[in-house]
Order: sequence, then C-alpha cells, then structure tokens
Amino acid sequence: MNTLRNRMEPDRMDERKIQDIIKLKKEKNALILVHNYQIPEVQDIADFLGDSLDLSRKARDTDKDVIVFCGVRFMAETAKILSPAKKVLLPSYQAGCPMADMVTSEALRDFKAREPGWKIVCYVNTSADVKAECDLCVTSANAVRVIRNYPYDRFLFVPDKNLGSYVKDQVKEKEIRLWDGYCHVHARLALDEVKKAKKIRPEAQLLVHPECEPGIVQMADEVLSTNQMLKFVRESKAKEFLIATEEGILYRMQKENPDKLFFPASRSLICPNMKQTRLSDVLNSLRYDQYEISLTEEIIRKAGIPLDEMLKYS
Ligand code: 13P
Ligand code: SF4
Repeated sequence: MNTLRNRMEPDRMDERKIQDIIKLKKEKNALILVHNYQIPEVQDIADFLGDSLDLSRKARDTDKDVIVFCGVRFMAETAKILSPAKKVLLPSYQAGCPMADMVTSEALRDFKAREPGWKIVCYVNTSADVKAECDLCVTSANAVRVIRNYPYDRFLFVPDKNLGSYVKDQVKEKEIRLWDGYCHVHARLALDEVKKAKKIRPEAQLLVHPECEPGIVQMADEVLSTNQMLKFVRESKAKEFLIATEEGILYRMQKENPDKLFFPASRSLICPNMKQTRLSDVLNSLRYDQYEISLTEEIIRKAGIPLDEMLKYS
C-alpha cells in the first residue's frame, strides 16, 4: 500500500493525467467536486472537497458551465437538481449507493396512499425519483436541525434506519418512523470491533458517522458528518482519533493535521462504489463529456422541493 508521502508525490503517468485534467478543466470551464471518501489521487485534484451538504451548496452556487462530480450517482443527481442549467458529469458510470437503492418511488407512493398524514423525509442518499416523492431532505450534517426546525410533527424517515434512529433520539418531541435501509459499509462495523479498538487506544477520541449502528453511536465521543469530523479534528486539542466512517477520509485528515494520529475503527470500512473513480475516469469525463446526468424537467422540479426545504430549515 502507498504511504501518505508517496501518494502526495504523483508518479509520472499521474502527473501527465493531472496536467491534462487541468488543461481541459480550463477549456471547458468546469468545476471538480470531490467527496471526502474518494481515493487520494482524486482528492488531490479537487476544486472543492467535502461532504454531501457542502458539495451540494457548491454545485448550487457555481458559475461554471460543467460540474464533474467525483462521488456516487445520488450526489451528481443532487448537483443537477440544484443546478439544472449546468452539465453535470459522473466520471464512473457504475458508482452507485446500495443504500439509496433500498427505497423506491413506487414504495413511497404506496405508503402515501395507505397512510396519509406523514411527511416523508429522505436522506440525501436517495435517487432523484425518490426525492421527487418526498417533502423534506436532510444530510448527515443537518438532519437533527432540519427536522427539529421543520413545522411538522410526524415523519417517515427513508432509507437509513441508523441515521433515522439517531435523529429520533435527538428530536424526542416528534414522531419518527423508520424505513428498513442501511449502509452496508457502516452497518458492517461491529460494536465489539470498536470496543477492542478503543481498548487498544484509550486516549483516542472516537468519532462516529451516524450511519453506524446505534450501539456504536452511543459509544461515540462525537457523532458527526464527514466535514464535521474534519472540522472537529482541526480544532481539537486531542492528538489521537479513532474514526468510524469510510477510510478515504483518513487521507485528508492526516494531510491537514500532520501532528495528529488517525486510526480507522476497522480495516473493513471501505465503500467499493466510492473507490471506482480514478484519475483516468476524470480525464475521460472531461474529454468525452461522460457520463452526463440527465433528469426530466418534472423530476428536477419535484425533487428540488425537498432540497429547497432542507436549505431553508438548515
Ligand atoms: P457525508 O454527507 O457525511 O459526507 O456522508 C455521505 C455518505 O455517503 C456517508 O456514507
Ligand atoms: Fe452509500 Fe455507504 Fe457508500 Fe456512503 S459509504 S456511498 S452510504 S454505500
């Protein structure tokens, strides 16, 4: 495996690709958005690196013509919904999110027909079709605040039961029903594994993403989205951190905080979908305008409603 040092010094092949990406990016007036879980080489070419909330704001506010989204499909779709006049490209066609696929628009239409009177709140990790059936959207960074501020008391939360159960715990005054979805990467992390890791490093601050199961969330020193973790470690006086989220974030943490130590809560915290995008995919994306996100006007209009509500109440 590469060390941090040689990852930061690209080899000659990579250097060539990086120069080509920079040149094409300028020619096409493009912006490269990169999620915190992407591979180091791709993180290093980002115009903006961030979590789902931060990147959707960047997509909304950019004046560039093209957005290259290095992440997974629902993120690129969100960028398209918030910036419909732009060309949005997803460099790796197959980069999806299995959790987002655990709820469908048909299932939500069925639910609404059977049980009216519930507002449907979706995690941003959902398809555009699903968002089009929802009232409100949240990310891991703002879910508690948005649901607390939204003037309604009964919600169905889709699809992540772990994030939903964390919100339910924090917003006790509202009634929240949970869908049976989960992130297979975060849900794979076992409580015993975290206890063992904490025993080995008792001094380390345990930072947990709310997609982890409730037992692990309860053990956490802090429950945070990926950007919130980055801010926390920057500002903390602690020197050691145990990170319970996808391992891609450790590269950025170590790079930004060379005097601190970061350990993954488990070696199995790897999202294969987030690892699909390579420098050559970004280059081909700019070269051939691939793979363009295309959504109907109706879906863009309807899916924009829960996203606008989220931005209003966060
Ligand atoms: P963040 O919004 O915290 O970056 O999380 C996105 C995600 O997919 C977590 O698995
Ligand atoms: Fe989806 Fe989980 Fe991968 Fe995030 S880490 S993209 S929630 S599968």
